[in-house]
Amino acid sequence: MNREIKERTKWFMDARFGMFIHWGLYSIPACGEWVMSQKEMTIEEYRKYFEQFDPVDYDPKTWVRLAKEAGMKYVVLTAKHHDGFCLFDSKLTDYKATNTKAGLDLVREFVDACREEGLKVGLYFSIIDWHHPDFPKYGDRQHPMRNNAAYKDEKIDFDRYLDYMHGQVKELVTNYGKLDLLWFDFSYDDMTGEKWKATDLIKMVRHYQPDVIIDNRLEGAGDNHGSIATEHPLIYSGDFASPEQIIPPKGVCDVNGEPIPWELCATMNNHWGYCNFDHQYKTPEMLVRKLVECVSKGGNMILNVGPDAKGNIPRESVEILREVGKWMSKNKESIYGCGISNFEKPDWGRYTQKDNVIYAHVYETPLGALPLYGISPEQLAEITYLADGSEVKRGEAWNTALYKDVAFVSFGEDPVFTYPLPDERDTVLKIQLKN
Ligand code: GLC
Repeated sequence: MNREIKERTKWFMDARFGMFIHWGLYSIPACGEWVMSQKEMTIEEYRKYFEQFDPVDYDPKTWVRLAKEAGMKYVVLTAKHHDGFCLFDSKLTDYKATNTKAGLDLVREFVDACREEGLKVGLYFSIIDWHHPDFPKYGDRQHPMRNNAAYKDEKIDFDRYLDYMHGQVKELVTNYGKLDLLWFDFSYDDMTGEKWKATDLIKMVRHYQPDVIIDNRLEGAGDNHGSIATEHPLIYSGDFASPEQIIPPKGVCDVNGEPIPWELCATMNNHWGYCNFDHQYKTPEMLVRKLVECVSKGGNMILNVGPDAKGNIPRESVEILREVGKWMSKNKESIYGCGISNFEKPDWGRYTQKDNVIYAHVYETPLGALPLYGISPEQLAEITYLADGSEVKRGEAWNTALYKDVAFVSFGEDPVFTYPLPDERDTVLKIQLKN
């Protein structure tokens, strides 16, 4: 991995856990952010949501505080999604929050809230735009007018679109102070790399924001990493890979097998944008374990919320994130700054590691003593429960005698007996190895 990427992503790799926020006009039809494309709506049809948009409860501080309570270290908001509607006060369009009933630069309020609460600030920006007259329509893979023959012979000036898109990115990187992260979305087919004039775009962004971390979707998407995983990442390769709704089986490595930064982006239910009939939420236990899985494979997890039309994060998301936060408040040390362990994945859970400390994430109640696979009794300095700092009892007994090279622990007095795990979501043992 190139040195610059390594330097830049240091805080990001330590942070491990972030919040994604998908919010825009699509919170009104409430069936996800692709509704305009899925229903093949014209700009005029979709415009009713612009007229209606009135997020009376918008208070980004409550969003950011929730992220913080969940143990998240950074927050990324959709400054503009594919529908082209800007939450920010772009001078290049009228299609923006300031011209709705909201009457506010919603991005400004958001970045202020993040900084006030001490979280890193990120903005998502769609390089696709279904509202701009010079974006390809008929025959495009996903444009709402892809099947509308009226656009068949339409002449567009794609360069004019690129000027607009670059201009908006410039607004974002110059008007909102220091940004920690930029999340471009996304490339497809031949709409990739230089088609977006990505070299110029990146040079401009880096000129104003030399340290900002950028995703890989000026070139890639959820279905390909782009050149970041190759021997020679291009200038617009981005700083991290962005697997979507999947945890890569073995993390993400470059061609030489060296781990590179990556971030799983995942929804809490099955939609990014607010969906009022999708109650298929992942449980706090599952989310804790998926976060641990990402960390154990050297990656981050950015978990999405989709606030409703009034600006409220759905009740289910709030409750689940608070539960995740309870676990994080006791066990964050096993997440922040941690990564891939030298030891193989144990069958009862996972290991994460930071230097000489192994964190054993135990999911499954052992029958009798728990073998700490890969760790011999001689290597052990001390073991404590991360949640309360108390000592974990050693588990060697007459019936472990056959397995002398493995250290054992017990969750109760007598290692021959079985005891329930103190935290059935994930009981974390902090294992200090001898130097
Ligand atoms: C996708 C979708 C999008 C979402 C994004 C998040 O590529 O187009 O709606 O914002 O993934 O990763």
